[in-house]
Amino acid sequence: MKIRIINGPNLNLLGTRQPEIYGGQTFEEYFTSLQEKHPSIEMTYVQSNVEGEIITELQKASAEVDGIILNAAAYTHTSVGIGDAVAGIDTPVVEVHISNTFDREAFRHQSYISKYAKGVILGFGLESYNLALMSFNS
Ligand code: DQA
Repeated sequence: MKIRIINGPNLNLLGTRQPEIYGGQTFEEYFTSLQEKHPSIEMTYVQSNVEGEIITELQKASAEVDGIILNAAAYTHTSVGIGDAVAGIDTPVVEVHISNTFDREAFRHQSYISKYAKGVILGFGLESYNLALMSFNS
């Protein structure tokens, strides 16, 4: 099985960005541990701070992998374009968030992606990605 993780803006700063919310681990470190945990899954990972690039990555991934794990970060709450991209591809997308967005500011309660996602996992720290992976593997 091939799974691609697509991370949105500012997630390249994990490890130093608001560690009280997002933890102290870099995504690269966590990604390595995920690969070790799931050796049978062919996992790839991309990150972009640019909305249009995330849309292009979703379209590209739809032709290349069996499932997508998407943390669109702040664009989750603003991007009709990313929501449309998720709606427009057949490959299942699991939306993830590191933090519990419902326990934060009201603007984070809105997602333009959830309606089109296979499911949503949030609030479990980086472990949210592992739970999303497990949902594809079951
Ligand atoms: C986030 C939650 C978003 O509200 C925020 O803008 C992020 C990260 C999360 O993973 O908890 O950048 O998607």
